[in-house]
Amino acid sequence: MIFDYRTGDCRELLKTVPDGTVRLAVTSPPYNIGKPYGKYKDKIALNDWQELINDVTREICRVLTPDGAFFLNLSPVPLGDSKEIMPLPFIGYQIFKENGLYLRNMITWTFNNMQNCTNRLSGRYENILWGVKDIDNYIFHLDDVRIPYITKGDKRLDENGGRNPTDVWYFDRVNNMTKKKLNLTHPTVYPLPMIVRIIKMATNPGDTVLDPFAGSGTSLVAAKIMGRNGIGFELDERYEEECRRRLETEGRIPASVFEEKYDDAEKTRRFQKAQDKAVSNLESL
Ligand SMILES: C[S@@+](CC[C@H](N)C(=O)[O-])C[C@H]1O[C@@H](n2cnc3c(N)ncnc32)[C@H](O)[C@@H]1O
Repeated sequence: MIFDYRTGDCRELLKTVPDGTVRLAVTSPPYNIGKPYGKYKDKIALNDWQELINDVTREICRVLTPDGAFFLNLSPVPLGDSKEIMPLPFIGYQIFKENGLYLRNMITWTFNNMQNCTNRLSGRYENILWGVKDIDNYIFHLDDVRIPYITKGDKRLDENGGRNPTDVWYFDRVNNMTKKKLNLTHPTVYPLPMIVRIIKMATNPGDTVLDPFAGSGTSLVAAKIMGRNGIGFELDERYEEECRRRLETEGRIPASVFEEKYDDAEKTRRFQKAQDKAVSNLESL
């Protein structure tokens, strides 16, 4: 398997990826909310932000296979001095349409661990826009991502392996305690089990997964676990070492840990146990 993490501007680096060679692009771009990413200033004019996402989406459409998909993570964000909410997923949808992508689902990713607001309702979701190049020809391995039925002991679980995970997903955000355990400095790390789910449902073993805003490399780590190739681009050089270390530690977690047939509490327990083991193994090398 190939894991290619390169430091630089993804708009330039994407030009080096040949046409039609990537089955899945999955990414969480900067949201323009002032996160301390280092080199990238995460507070730019909205037009410039739109141009960045549009440029990247255009290149992604070029490198995707004809049956490829783009999963773009965006969220409603407070904008400017008034902190009016700007629904970035709406802009993401417009950009998808301008680039010929069809929206297959707008997944709601919900979580509990996030700051509380006092002058509006506290935000508890982000969206993942699932765009496909061809609405009649794309990969969707539903059987690989079925989850338990809500009623415990439901016999259908044995018959067809569980229910459709729907377009509302719960995954805990990566908190500071976990970042400390993994020795990560990146401010916004994706939940690994969520990216494993996307890779399972939208790719085949041996495919290539691309993340143009790779940060600490979660998408590459998930690709490694699932036996896919990974390409990641990141503007700030400080995160390359974090990604390499994660590939050596979390990248060794067996794919079986991410089986969806357990309830959420059991899934979390299995994942955290495997993550602890992966990290402590490297320490003892
Ligand atoms: C939301 S973070 C991605 C986090 C990642 N999903 C993870 O799990 O670690 C967005 C990243 O995009 C990077 N970035 C911003 N502009 C970029 C550009 N033009 N090319 C490549 N990376 C860029 C930022 O430095 C930041 O690390």
